[in-house]
Amino acid sequence: MREGRSQMDKILAEYRSRIGDFEVVEIDEDRIAQIRAEIDIDAPLDLHWTWNYGNEVEELAALYERGKKGQWNAETDIDWTADLSRDEWFLPRENVQLLPTLLTAMGADEEKCKAAAFDESAFTISQLLHGEQAALQICGQLTNSCPTMDAKFYAASQVTDEARHVEVLSKLLQRKFGTIYPIGATLKVLLDRLLQAPTWKTKTLGMQTLFEGVAVGILDVIQKGSTNPLLSDIIRRVKQDEARHAAFGILTMRRTVQSATGEEMVEMEDFAFGILEALNANQQLDMLNVLGPKYDLDPHAVVQMAMGLPNWAEINSELFMHTVVPNLVRLGLITERTEEKYRGVGIMHGDRFGSGIDEDIRASMN
Ligand SMILES: [Fe+2]
Ligand SMILES: [Fe+2]
Repeated sequence: MREGRSQMDKILAEYRSRIGDFEVVEIDEDRIAQIRAEIDIDAPLDLHWTWNYGNEVEELAALYERGKKGQWNAETDIDWTADLSRDEWFLPRENVQLLPTLLTAMGADEEKCKAAAFDESAFTISQLLHGEQAALQICGQLTNSCPTMDAKFYAASQVTDEARHVEVLSKLLQRKFGTIYPIGATLKVLLDRLLQAPTWKTKTLGMQTLFEGVAVGILDVIQKGSTNPLLSDIIRRVKQDEARHAAFGILTMRRTVQSATGEEMVEMEDFAFGILEALNANQQLDMLNVLGPKYDLDPHAVVQMAMGLPNWAEINSELFMHTVVPNLVRLGLITERTEEKYRGVGIMHGDRFGSGIDEDIRASMN
């Protein structure tokens, strides 16, 4: 992992400021426009041939087989005639999304809360969509650079999965939400880091372990909360695929960790913390700056208020403790050296292993 040392510096250091005691990442508007305009990026890649066409990694071959069976068609397998509209609560009013929870607590009327919930859903799904595009591109890179044919087969099958996710989420947004929000600048910077990471190991750690891990957490929350059949069906299908991708991350990183030197382990540990810390340090300000003013909410006041809650760390860590942190712990990539840092910024809370392995991931590993 050649880039390791630079990861010791905080990602997005120039956009750090403080809200209360907490250091946040907030990118200014001019720079956001520039970051979004960077659509051609240099991504050096080590392409790797292999002449061994036999199975070398049994568990990846099994995952590839599972992927072949799990294919579905985003156009014809989804009932696109089903409704999803601004007029319905398709997620719980409170405790799933930030804006309706907050507005309800402030005594806002039902219409305002519902409108905010709809907009926040569209924003979140838009960010998932942009993440899917990054996954599509990274899996293309992995197909080139992975060392074994089993890994290349698997990565190629994930390319198809990610193309389908880009298709289904963009259709959902265009057909039902009527809008696609632009990518959050913090997310774009972090995804570029993964796309530009020089080795397939770092890309796998970054995409399949970190980002897919966070994505499985988000999808699980939506899946459990959704009362809309169309949304439920789409999220269920996407999450089953994502669980397979997260399983690839675990299986591949397990082997990588076993053969890593002490120095490589430190680099991977710091890379993982650096990415998750920057994502967490944004504290949804990318969303709040877009949607907050529309609902008379001051983004900084919202963050300050959230952090003042007695159970802030528990609420904040929920998404991370779902899959990504327990997986990093199991891989040995959160150690005594780094655990306090994770706890200090509210990414890790309570039991190191969270509440256990996600069911879809467990099914993909069997
Ligand atoms: Fe995906
Ligand atoms: Fe994925």
